[in-house]
Amino acid sequence: MPLVDMKDMLQHAYRHGYAVGAFEVISLDFLQGIMQAAEQARAPVVLNLVEPHFEHFDFELMMPAVEMAALRAKVPVAIHMDHGTSLESAVNAINRGCNSLMVDSSYLDFTENVRITKTVVDTAHACGVPVEGELGCVPGVEGETADHHADGLAYTSLAEAKAYVTRTGVDFLAISIGTVHGRIKGKPKLDYTRLKQINDALRVPLVIHGGTGLSDDQYHRLISNGVSKINYFTALSDRVSVQIKENAKTRTSSTYCGLMKDISQVIASEVEHCLRMWGAAGRAAEVLAQCDAWKPVEHLIIYNTERLGKADTEIMVAEGRRVLSSIPGVRDVFTGEAVQSDTKYQYTWMVRFCHPAVIDSYRNHPAHVAFADNLFRPVAGNRISIDFQSV
Ligand code: 13P
Repeated sequence: MPLVDMKDMLQHAYRHGYAVGAFEVISLDFLQGIMQAAEQARAPVVLNLVEPHFEHFDFELMMPAVEMAALRAKVPVAIHMDHGTSLESAVNAINRGCNSLMVDSSYLDFTENVRITKTVVDTAHACGVPVEGELGCVPGVEGETADHHADGLAYTSLAEAKAYVTRTGVDFLAISIGTVHGRIKGKPKLDYTRLKQINDALRVPLVIHGGTGLSDDQYHRLISNGVSKINYFTALSDRVSVQIKENAKTRTSSTYCGLMKDISQVIASEVEHCLRMWGAAGRAAEVLAQCDAWKPVEHLIIYNTERLGKADTEIMVAEGRRVLSSIPGVRDVFTGEAVQSDTKYQYTWMVRFCHPAVIDSYRNHPAHVAFADNLFRPVAGNRISIDFQSV
């Protein structure tokens, strides 16, 4: 149940002056460590799945574990796809279980950034999924050395930020005010004046990428000026590397398990430190009380086919599965035939929607309309159709 809408979660943080940590999940050790810390600190947390890192793990294989971690948690959790690159990857992320998205077209010119972001926002909002956009450019690569990327930094312009949020309808804005993704030497110089102006003008939760390497005072000044989510990865990755090297030196066993020993504890201790420093610790109960639980919908149809034999029914069903499962917000399409032959209805579709908003967007989606009008409704007049939510 503690999977919650990230819009509610970040609005709570924004109103109460703290920041939620968004930590990258790159393996089960990271997932376990992050969840352990959030439970210990009684803090809301965001599990980040970073698209450019999908080359390091199988995203589809990872998502059931991420979803299970969120569902069995006692603290509120949002599952966020970070640095999404296209509408296709956004739809794939929603259909695999992400309930929040970032679209990152910040490297494009303003008009193109607005155009791509708006397309993703329209599709995601029709699925009930909130969207983070980015304006300005936070350079560098998570987990790597940042110094050689520092010249790519482009600060967020206040005028553009106002136009971008109005034209795209993003729910959160990632801004560039001096942070860099990755490992930096020394302390970055942050432009608090710019941050304050953007926050005063927009009043939407702001997001900082490149959260590694700031001082306590810098985090506090960011948070007191509207930053409600901080993305953090490089420091976790560095602490894990140190632990693995330590394990290699000190352990008599150099097996995989020996080298990976204590990794999730190391991650948990760093994450917990951040959650406490950013003011998120102890907030879980309030957030749960004030956020809508994220609940899928089961769209159930039971039907009989008329003027269609068994073999042709199977062809129609296979086509429906293919078409319907690619519609945004469709988590799963189950098609079945009754086990008993003497039931009132012989066939079923059970289509799982990620959110109640999908009831309408699915019904009106051109692929659904074409399949339903041309292949399904003409042969399935005798049917019952109901949408259910778990109680
Ligand atoms: P760091 O790796 O610099 O902490 O940044 C993480 C990030 O911004 C992910 O989007």
